[in-house]
Amino acid sequence: MTFKRMLLEEWFDKYQFDVDYDIGESGVKFLKLGELDLNLNEVELRYTHHLGNPELRTQIASFYEKLGWDNIAVTTGAAESIFSIMASLTSKKDHIIVECPNYPSFWYIPQSLERSMDLFFLDFEERFKPNFQKLEDMIKPNTKLICLTHPNNPTGSIITIEELKQIIDIVEDRNIYLLLDETYRELTFGKVLPPAANLSSNVISVSTMSKVYGLPGIRVGWSASLEKTIIDGILKVREQTTICNSALNEAIALQILRKKDRHLKTIMQRIKENYNIVFDWMEDEDRLSFIPPKGSVTCFPRFNESSERLCRLLVEKYRTFTVPGYCFKMDHFFRLGFGGETEELEKGLEKLSLAIKEM
Ligand SMILES: Cc1ncc(COP(=O)(O)O)c(C=O)c1O
Repeated sequence: MTFKRMLLEEWFDKYQFDVDYDIGESGVKFLKLGELDLNLNEVELRYTHHLGNPELRTQIASFYEKLGWDNIAVTTGAAESIFSIMASLTSKKDHIIVECPNYPSFWYIPQSLERSMDLFFLDFEERFKPNFQKLEDMIKPNTKLICLTHPNNPTGSIITIEELKQIIDIVEDRNIYLLLDETYRELTFGKVLPPAANLSSNVISVSTMSKVYGLPGIRVGWSASLEKTIIDGILKVREQTTICNSALNEAIALQILRKKDRHLKTIMQRIKENYNIVFDWMEDEDRLSFIPPKGSVTCFPRFNESSERLCRLLVEKYRTFTVPGYCFKMDHFFRLGFGGETEELEKGLEKLSLAIKEM
């Protein structure tokens, strides 16, 4: 195994902590502990159950009609779920297909684990919709796992229930697995898909507290699957890496998930308002082309010059953070996030207009 730094995380680590306006983040506004109205005094700061506190696993399982607590593995963010699934489910002789653009660890992890992998690109010309015929043509005899993310980070593209069933048929026919990253499932601007893990034991749903709930700092995510050997595989990786989650962070996740609906309602109102602001702003920017996102809190406009130079100018001169497309293997694009405070978004877009003019 050899681990390289991830371009996306290098960019974040270098720039995100010292800016005035962050319009590059892929989640909703980060919340503060004091805003959450939690009772944490009785939390015992011990090692927790290795796959997560049973109460938290039960709470998560309640979002998936057919799953019980033992179909859930609570992990250190979705990031640990993705790593453990790839490490435990596949071996060096297996092939993995990864959608791109996507959260980049989906392609870094197979490289680190020395798995063979192909990228399944979403095309701007196809409005970033996955082309399932193209995907099917990429499947090899040794393909074991297909990884998709919808609503997609960074494009905001979604799939329909018919498309989800189509891809499930494909993996079931070959007895292989679909990892569907459903981090943004609840942030779909229209009908929300059912969680895919309910629909087939060849599917693993992955999700997290980081994006929709604004709590990336607690590092709580999960995997859900009807197939218990997947959950056991995650346990084996976990016992040799992090042992268990932080007791405090699990308690925070549990209390927030218990009031999920109230939390989501407030968030959806702000997202809709912010989405309209981005949409109107984009109409005046004739050097950008844009596929309106159908979900998530990000979009991926195309710029008619180097997006890396634009994003660097924006962050270094105008102290405004976005993410250049090279971090997602798509050079002319950049990620714009609209999950934050409305005022910050408006100010950030003003700075972005100035940077575009200056290019
Ligand atoms: C689609 C997606 N999946 C997974 C992750 C990892 O998130 P975390 O480990 O914070 O849960 C991210 C982070 O940006 C993401 O965008």
